[in-house]
Amino acid sequence: MDVAGMRVGVHGVMALGMAVLGAACLALLALSLLSACLVPLVVGWLRDRPRMFDADEVSRLARQFSGLEPGIAFQRVATELLRSHPGHILPEEQRHWVLFPGRASAHCLLHASLTEQLQLSGTALDTIAQSGRHWANVSATLVSGTVRQWKEGTMTGEVFYAGDTVWRASGEATAEQWVAGTWMVEYSHGFIPLLLLTSFAENLLTSNDLHSMFYMLRAYIRALHLESLSALQDAGFA
Ligand SMILES: *[C@@H]1O[C@H](CO)[C@@H](O)[C@H](O)[C@H]1NC(C)=O
Repeated sequence: MDVAGMRVGVHGVMALGMAVLGAACLALLALSLLSACLVPLVVGWLRDRPRMFDADEVSRLARQFSGLEPGIAFQRVATELLRSHPGHILPEEQRHWVLFPGRASAHCLLHASLTEQLQLSGTALDTIAQSGRHWANVSATLVSGTVRQWKEGTMTGEVFYAGDTVWRASGEATAEQWVAGTWMVEYSHGFIPLLLLTSFAENLLTSNDLHSMFYMLRAYIRALHLESLSALQDAGFA
């Protein structure tokens, strides 16, 4: 290739680069406009949609069984929830422990809808993780172990023990240390699909664990299916 040919080639690459950059800017603009319209809608919808659970109610229940052997405590919690919210808790054969991407912890879904999520979670190892910044209020009540939570903007951590509730507000990010043998009941209220999407992205980028991703997605779909069945039943269709 001669010098003139190379020059044409370089110009071609630059033109392509500019076109891609332009398209990316346009896409970003469109996304910003879309979210500017969508965010207030979702906020209003989150506020007005009736809730299945109440954070205090879940905390009270978990606290009642805290201190027991964690497996037994979880069984009691699930049994109690099945009794108080029939048709809204995944039955035992549909519950699975799934590894959480990017940290040494696992979780097991009990209930989920578009705005609420109730799960068991914990770890058998000492583990440290960043909570991420989510569009959900999360309250986790410990049935065993210890959590040290460090909130952004502070210079000391706060320590939580069995029976305590660790609280993380929507839009807030924290770093957390879970001591080996920490198990908790976690309730989230917010925009749950976004929470899941973050987990998926994290999974794909950090651990590439498609197996866990599949189980996580399947549990969420099962939970949504359960909710739609209950809704149909309540409407008198089934
Ligand atoms: C989170 O909690 C705060 C304070 O109670 C409340 O104002 C906000 O609406 C809640 N957000 C969600 C998504 O539940």
